[in-house]
Amino acid sequence: MRILIAEDDPVSRRLLESYLGKWGYSVAAAGDGAEAWRLFEAGSFTMVITDWMMPELDGPGLICRIRASHRPGYVYTVVLTARSRKEDLVEGLEAGADDFLTKPFDRDELRARLRAGERILRLEHQLREAQAARLQAEQLAGLGRLAAGVAHEINNPIAFVTNNLAVLRRDVGSALTVLARYESGREALARSDPSLVAEIERLEDEADLAYFRENYERIFERTAEGLQRIRRIVQDLRDFARLDEAESKEVDLNAAVRSAIAALGHELNARSIRAEATPGEIPPVVCHPAKINQVFYNVLHNAIQATDPGGSIEVRTRAEGQGAGTVVVEIEDHGVGIAPEHLAHVFEPFFTTRPVGSGTGLGLSVAYGILRDHGGTIEAESTVGRGSVFRIRIPACGGD
Ligand SMILES: Nc1ncnc2c1ncn2[C@@H]1O[C@H](COP(=O)(O)OP(=O)(O)OP(=O)(O)O)[C@@H](O)[C@H]1O
Ligand SMILES: [Mg+2]
Repeated sequence: MRILIAEDDPVSRRLLESYLGKWGYSVAAAGDGAEAWRLFEAGSFTMVITDWMMPELDGPGLICRIRASHRPGYVYTVVLTARSRKEDLVEGLEAGADDFLTKPFDRDELRARLRAGERILRLEHQLREAQAARLQAEQLAGLGRLAAGVAHEINNPIAFVTNNLAVLRRDVGSALTVLARYESGREALARSDPSLVAEIERLEDEADLAYFRENYERIFERTAEGLQRIRRIVQDLRDFARLDEAESKEVDLNAAVRSAIAALGHELNARSIRAEATPGEIPPVVCHPAKINQVFYNVLHNAIQATDPGGSIEVRTRAEGQGAGTVVVEIEDHGVGIAPEHLAHVFEPFFTTRPVGSGTGLGLSVAYGILRDHGGTIEAESTVGRGSVFRIRIPACGGD
């Protein structure tokens, strides 16, 4: 547990640092409120002990800022002060403090109060994990239902549009043959009914018949290709949701990676981003196929969002460990990268740097939870301006 101390009196500060250090806490100390705020913003503290009166930014002011920062996870705050009147206590608690200790403080009381704070933080952490697990289950179910619904709704019209197109293609060809036969009699017709021929020629011009005759085969060809593409997307959706498979089974992760890339094909194409898969020789893993697909989808989706148009993303798979006991999947982008102060938080539920309404901050926490359930792990390395690598490890079948 990391604790931040804000105390302008050097003696009290050192005393606090030494006690907390002895009790096994990791401590950072600031000599005033403004410095404490800077440290708080750059680090990840779960507890703050602050003096009341400090230059620049006082204790209640610091706590107000902490509360307004909406960082994921609760920060337990204790105000430490020589002010001991009831009104002071009320004011401190109203500013958002969780506890209040008067100076000179008693060592054992401080320790007991920190322990009480730890209990509250533990409960809050458990609550957030349970909430994330529920949201993860809902997100998975929602995505599966959406994929199933879309695949079903599109499949039917695709079938009859494809049939009708084949019929049209055949019949248009026949109709043009009939038309050509009429044209061969045009001169004879012009002699007997010149006004009818003039009208036919006007209609021909209007319909741009010459263009149609030259291009109709290509138009049908392109339309058939479009339909074929839609059919493939529907198939990808079905593969992605693995609609018929509720249970764990042996899965080839190279195929799962291909399926996730295909499911994001539209977004990759729209932004001209290449996703290059380098499949290694890997044993199958036993997993829930739809869930593992979602892991790759979420991580790849972030990689796409971090990459400029025209860029590329690499996905590599390999076996690792004795008897190739682990399958490693690396998803690397060369995009914006993740700031060091954010890197520690990316797997936390609701952590997002996207504008309000455009990201829930659940993608990576869901991936993390799924991998944990499969006995696997996910880790990230990143350099701002250079890009990020997300490394996923899943135990292989029969591995050790
Ligand atoms: N490849 C990446 N490059 C840069 N930043 C990333 C990358 N992957 C994740 N991040 C950062 O991690 C944050 C959390 O990612 P996560 O997928 O959990 O949520 P989100 O993408 O913000 O929202 P959601 O996935 O729910 O739509 C992102 O907001 C982003 O700041
Ligand atoms: Mg995301």
